[in-house]
Amino acid sequence: MQTTAVASRAALDTLDASFSGRLLTDPADTAPFCTDWIKRWSGQALAVAQPDTVDDIAAIVRWCAANKVPIVPQGGNTGMVGGAVPGPDGRALVLSTKRLRTVRAVDPVNNTLTVEAGVTLVEVQQAALKAGRLFPLSLGAEGSCTIGGNLATNAGGVGVLRYGNARELCLGVEVVTAEGQVWNGLRGLRKDNTGYDLRDLFIGSEGTLGIITAATLKMYPLPAARMTALATVASPHAALRLLELAQQRLAASLTAFELMSEFCMDLAAHHFPACRKPLDTPSPWYVLLESSDPISEEHARDSFDRLMEEAMESGLISDAAVATSLAQSEAFWNIRHHLPDAQTREGDSIKHDISVPISVIGDFIVATNAALEAASPGIRMVVFGHLGDGNLHYNVSPAPGGSGPAFRAQQEMFNEIVYEAVRRANGSISAEHGIGQLKRDQLPHFKSDIEMALMARLKAAFDPQNIMNPGRVLR
Ligand code: FAD
Ligand code: MLT
Ligand code: ZN
Repeated sequence: MQTTAVASRAALDTLDASFSGRLLTDPADTAPFCTDWIKRWSGQALAVAQPDTVDDIAAIVRWCAANKVPIVPQGGNTGMVGGAVPGPDGRALVLSTKRLRTVRAVDPVNNTLTVEAGVTLVEVQQAALKAGRLFPLSLGAEGSCTIGGNLATNAGGVGVLRYGNARELCLGVEVVTAEGQVWNGLRGLRKDNTGYDLRDLFIGSEGTLGIITAATLKMYPLPAARMTALATVASPHAALRLLELAQQRLAASLTAFELMSEFCMDLAAHHFPACRKPLDTPSPWYVLLESSDPISEEHARDSFDRLMEEAMESGLISDAAVATSLAQSEAFWNIRHHLPDAQTREGDSIKHDISVPISVIGDFIVATNAALEAASPGIRMVVFGHLGDGNLHYNVSPAPGGSGPAFRAQQEMFNEIVYEAVRRANGSISAEHGIGQLKRDQLPHFKSDIEMALMARLKAAFDPQNIMNPGRVLR
């Protein structure tokens, strides 16, 4: 796209006058919006717009379309692939949705709630709870990430094995298109076969087709009780057998099944003393599992205790701590959710958010660990993730004190080894975090030409001026 020179001050003044929210232009004010959560990308913004309403967003997009100014939509800026921050050229406008915070409607009988894009995930969970219901999307960044960003990235998190990704939890969206029109698709219908599924085109599009300004989401019955346990397993293969047993015994009540290596647990305990391991038995691998029982506290405990006993007797686990209070359950989850930050505190990390068929995950870890260690002796594998849905956060940390340019220079080699192993396993190079800037250039190597052509045609149809987050997802 031939963007004009950086939009003039006069042009920005007309923008400022065109909407009720705030326009930040001073670099000191815009800087916090220009670096991503993991501090991997830092850019420059022409300005940061903080609209108050959907109509504000429509006015801003119309101004950008008229002035050929690229737009970078931003929610909580917790994304992992550099999709929410501007590039270095100072041409793009960051459009923050954080001030669109209205819970527009809650319908406990229809089991739906409609919220604006800037509402954080934890606030959506709380709005559902207030109505005596559950909104089951849950991830470590839930205090900061927004539902607009969750839908734009089709976020996964810890409940996917039971409730699916953000996509499965959304019945309708409201979108401002690349022309600055407001499409109200906020229907709360579970069945609606009337033409192409436009909603699902915007979900997962990472801000490259339009701006999600509100969503109608599904709610679920609250469980009668939850049981959480941290168990020690000898290997990822043993963890898979435990997953199978847990699914047989708990069926739909199994709502989380996370794998963590001993090194991950040690990193968390080292960097966050409150995350010390609750089990003394040393173990190379740990599983954090949770059931959400619809029947009763007693039924939850009986079925969960029976599962743990059977797993212990059959040697699938060697030790386990079953949470006896909400505080203890939260302490277990606290360890899991601190893993990304613990790894960042430890130093450099080259991250892979991959998925493979669940059945091959054990072999994948063993073989790919070996290949990486052979390629770069001394590295430390930081392996954890949502085993229950086949998604691993499969990250490489340097030997102690090895952070720095020499380690980072190996990124391409590590990516090559991991992504070729993923290809051989018929997996995905991005399970839940999306493509953004990080994986844009790898995408064509893992999609067919027809897929790339169809996506390019879709992009050209929805955003002919290429102002919606250009250079993200697609070149
Ligand atoms: P942002 O980072 O602001 O934006 C993400 C992308 O969406 C960008 O491309 C942006 O342009 C676009 N976008 C944002 N808002 C809109 C909108 N309203 N309309 C259109 N496009 C928009 N992710 C998971 O999937 N599973 C996890 O388990 C998980 N755990 C995490 C743990 C931690 C500690 C952290 C820091 C992140 C984690 N993430 C996880 C990644 C991140 O939280 C998710 O990708 C989340 O969905 C991003 O939401 P956000 O509001 O921060 O979006
Ligand atoms: C998680 O599941 O903790 C995140 O998706 C992983 C990450 O943020 O690296
Ligand atoms: Zn994750």
